[in-house]
Formats: sequence, structure tokens, C-alpha cells
Amino acid sequence: MIILLLCVALLCPTVYSSDTTVEWCYHEPTCDFTTWPKNVHDYCSGTKQSPINIVTSKVKANSKLTPFTFTGFDDDSTLLSIGNTGDSVIVTLDGDKMKVEGGDLPSAYTSVQFHLHWGKGSSVKGSEHTVDGKGYPMELHIVNVHSKYNGSAKAAIDAHDPNGLAVLSFFVEGSNGTSKSKGWEILTSFLPNITNSGVTTTDIMNTTTMNSLLEGVNRTKYYRYQGSLTTPRCNEIVTWTVFKDTIKVNHDMVSQRKSIERDSALQHNSTIQRHKHKNGL
Ligand SMILES: *[C@@H]1O[C@H](CO)[C@@H](O)[C@H](O)[C@H]1NC(C)=O
Ligand SMILES: *[C@@H]1O[C@H](CO)[C@@H](O)[C@H](O)[C@H]1NC(C)=O
Ligand SMILES: *[C@@H]1O[C@H](CO)[C@@H](O)[C@H](O)[C@H]1NC(C)=O
Ligand SMILES: *[C@@H]1O[C@H](CO)[C@@H](O)[C@H](O)[C@H]1NC(C)=O
Ligand SMILES: *[C@@H]1O[C@H](CO)[C@@H](O)[C@H](O)[C@H]1NC(C)=O
Ligand SMILES: *[C@@H]1O[C@H](CO)[C@@H](O)[C@H](O)[C@H]1NC(C)=O
Ligand SMILES: [Zn+2]
Repeated sequence: MIILLLCVALLCPTVYSSDTTVEWCYHEPTCDFTTWPKNVHDYCSGTKQSPINIVTSKVKANSKLTPFTFTGFDDDSTLLSIGNTGDSVIVTLDGDKMKVEGGDLPSAYTSVQFHLHWGKGSSVKGSEHTVDGKGYPMELHIVNVHSKYNGSAKAAIDAHDPNGLAVLSFFVEGSNGTSKSKGWEILTSFLPNITNSGVTTTDIMNTTTMNSLLEGVNRTKYYRYQGSLTTPRCNEIVTWTVFKDTIKVNHDMVSQRKSIERDSALQHNSTIQRHKHKNGL
């Protein structure tokens, strides 16, 4: 089953801003995503803002949404580094080796990074998107840039190109299954080494693959809509693909990640983070 979601709208947390001259804030009592339309109104008050709640009863089938072709997703030399941006864990990808095509995307797209969104402390919902109001503990975003920008997300943003970026989004949830996700075990093993904001390590190279992290997801089943960066400037230049199947990781990993967050600089501190956002999503 292949499905298309027509644009709904509204709601807005998390990581993107190419333009560091725009001041905005994230999790403050009087200043958070609800104030972005005022603070950063040139984009954040638009009509195609991400993330969204996907209402499955309103989703429309679209036969153009064919399978994707993924290049470099099975190559363990494509994960270049893993770092802590203060808001997120980000893994940089080798854009010379990785790309995504098909799935009714208007071009091939260069894969440049993936990052995670997850809930704070004991709060369960960490995902940005929701489906029929249901959130998930985590959401993984693979950021891909239209091939004409040579892997520069900034160039795509600066060009105000509505087809500039394509983000592949995967929900992650805990499972009791005995099958361990090897890729996630490996990814998780690096977290203790990047507890401080700003720290990055290249030790992840040649340890696991993108496919290994996406195990169990049937990538022919997905939702599609045109949306935006999820943080200011909220540019409406993102073709979103939200996969229907979830990535299932061991419960322990979901909670381990939470305890790491609680105990470390991954915890949000909006006072110190507000000037730091550069390239998230
Ligand atoms: C991308 O690279 C090609 C060839 O190296 C160059 O001609 C082109 O100008 C570059 N485009 C951008 C947007 O940097
Ligand atoms: C999975 O494990 C959790 C926590 O140990 C438990 O609360 C839940 O009932 C289990 N679910 C199933 C379907 O076994
Ligand atoms: C974390 O860092 C320590 C000390 O540098 C190193 O021995 C260890 O292998 C690293 N862990 C991983 C998973 O790379
Ligand atoms: C990773 O593997 C690639 C290709 O096999 C190799 O060229 C590179 O040197 C390796 N890097 C590390 C850090 O081991
Ligand atoms: C993925 O889903 C499609 C459509 O339901 C189905 O035809 C295909 O067999 C599935 N692929 C796998 C590997 O399960
Ligand atoms: C957040 O950072 C500011 C500035 O460094 C500091 O004064 C404040 O105590 C921090 N808050 C928390 C909860 O860590
Ligand atoms: Zn994101």
C-alpha cells in the first residue's frame, strides 16, 4: 500500500536553521515554537509547516509513489562521524557515496546526515510527526539535498528551492522482541563517548550501515507531503517522506538513550542552546 498525504499543517518543534542571524528559542516558557510565527514570521507563519499530525482517514493513495532506490545504504564506510549537537545526536554521511532516488522525488538527492529526535526524561513522545495523534519515543531523520547543490543543505536553503531538501523520517519504538538490532546496539555504544555538547567522533566509521539501522521497515510504504524545516527559519523547502513501519529497537536502548540524555549535556538547556542551531531539521 502506497499512500499520499495531502498537506495538513501546524505544530512545530525541533532542529533547523541555516541562518544563524535569526534569533529564536526552543523550550522557554514564554518563547518556544508557538511564538515562531511572530518572531520569525517571514517563514514560520507559512501554510506548509512541518511537522504534522498525519490523519490516516484523510490520506490519499497515489500511484506515483513508487519504491525508492538507495545507494550506499549498505556500505559501512558511509557513516563518517557521530556527534552531539546539544539538541540531537547527528551522524554525518558520505554524500559522495550515498543517494536516494525514485519515490516520485524530482531528482536524485544526496544523503548528508541523519539525526534523532527523542523525548525528554520520562515523557514518552519524542517524535515530531504523529499519526492519528499517536507519537513515538523517537524519530530518525535522514536529510538529503537535491543533487544540484552538491551536498550543501545551506545552498539549497539559500536558494529557497521548494525541492531543495528531501527528508526521510522513521519512527523508532521499543520492542520486547528477542531479536537485537545490531546496528542500534553499535550506534548506542558511541553515546557515552559524546555526552558533551559539541563533541564528535569518527570512531563510527566502518562499524555499521544505514540499512542496518533501518532494519524491519518496508520502505515501499510511506506518507508524503510538502513541508518545511521544523525550526526557524521554517523554510518550506522539504519533501517529507514518513515511513509507515516503525524501526523496532530493544526497550533497553530506548531507555538507555533517555538516561544518557538526562545525565548529560544532551539535556536541553535553551539558555545556552539558543544561539547554537545551525543545521538541524
Ligand atoms: C556543484 O559542482 C559542480 C561540479 O563540480 C559545479 O559546476 C557546480 O557549480 C556546483 N554547484 C553548486 C551549487 O555548488
Ligand atoms: C514488554 O515489556 C514491557 C516492559 O518490560 C511490559 O510492560 C510489556 O507488558 C511487554 N509487552 C509485551 C507485549 O510483552
Ligand atoms: C569510547 O572512547 C574510549 C576512550 O577513547 C575508547 O576506548 C572506546 O573504544 C570508545 N567507544 C567506542 C564505542 O568507540
Ligand atoms: C573504512 O573503510 C574504507 C573502505 O574500506 C577505508 O578506505 C577507510 O580507511 C576505513 N576507515 C577507517 C577509519 O577504518
Ligand atoms: C512491502 O510491502 C509491499 C506492499 O504491501 C509488499 O508487496 C512487499 O512484499 C513488502 N516487502 C517486504 C520485504 O515485506
Ligand atoms: C543553562 O545554562 C545557563 C547558562 O550557562 C546556566 O546558567 C543554567 O544554570 C543552565 N540551566 C540548567 C538547567 O542547566
Ligand atoms: Zn529532524
